[in-house]
Amino acid sequence: MKATAIAPANIAFIKYWGKADDALRLPMNSSISMNLSGALTTTTVEFSSDYRVDSIEGTEFTSREKEKIVSHLDRIRKIGKSNLYAKVITKNSFPKGAGIASSASGFAALTVAASKALELNIPEKELTILARIGSGSGCRSIPDGFVYWKNGESSDDSYAYSLYPSTYWDLRDIVAIVNAEEKSVSTTDGMARVKTSPFWKERILGIPAKIQAVQYALKKKSIRDLGIVMEEDCINMHAVAMTQNPPLFYWKETTMAIIHAVRRWREEGLPVYFTIDAGPNVHLICEGKNEKTVIEKVKRLHGISQLIVNRPSLGARLV
Ligand code: PMV
Repeated sequence: MKATAIAPANIAFIKYWGKADDALRLPMNSSISMNLSGALTTTTVEFSSDYRVDSIEGTEFTSREKEKIVSHLDRIRKIGKSNLYAKVITKNSFPKGAGIASSASGFAALTVAASKALELNIPEKELTILARIGSGSGCRSIPDGFVYWKNGESSDDSYAYSLYPSTYWDLRDIVAIVNAEEKSVSTTDGMARVKTSPFWKERILGIPAKIQAVQYALKKKSIRDLGIVMEEDCINMHAVAMTQNPPLFYWKETTMAIIHAVRRWREEGLPVYFTIDAGPNVHLICEGKNEKTVIEKVKRLHGISQLIVNRPSLGARLV
């Protein structure tokens, strides 16, 4: 009754910011992402009658995070009609504290490993629904490559599926890790206040057209078309966060310096675009042929502690 799964983090081209249903983690809007080959979580789950409690090892978690993991095990035990406790061992390929969200890769790996350990054969669509309830964006880490998460009217209707496999387009996401001392506000807490921004509705109304634009850019493999709308939605999402009450400023000075540099490099003819999640790190999106040039340029900037280079990745899988 033991299984190991590996799952990637993902970067959203169109972001999820705000829930239509808090408990079910139904998003206000659909989103599109790419799985990241360099930001992986590997999780082993073992259920046994020898265990008297659930235990979690390998990564340090806050008590709130631990509760979320145990609740997720409960969900899977309920499906499997099991009352066995579990030992969970989980490791990230990226350093904790680097500001790379590990909840998406973590909940995707946990969902796949725990359901297999209980010998449940859950189809991919249902796995994405289950992962979503653990961590919203986690549902996008289950299917391969480039992934669409449908907002949906009900829990069964809000799932993720692959638009294209990881081999479809040789993109890069070069993550510039920005030195930051303070911890960012969790996405759950941040999103809970979304409606205090006067701009949230405007952003949501603009999403269907942006989703279409990203789908078209993916179809054409046009980095320019993808980059323009991806940056626009990133800025929109952060504008909403910054105008919530209390305001959420995820960007640091270095974040802003990278944004300006990317725009300058583009003027000089280098097709590279940025997007930013709920933290100060900047994801630089470019085509594989420009990876080296982007890395050389970004290395000359100050305030960046490390770079994580990602290609499009497979989704969650058993190992
Ligand atoms: O699913 P969460 O709670 O990790 O929220 C993800 C929120 C963003 O990273 C800011 C946007 C996204 O769609 O990934």
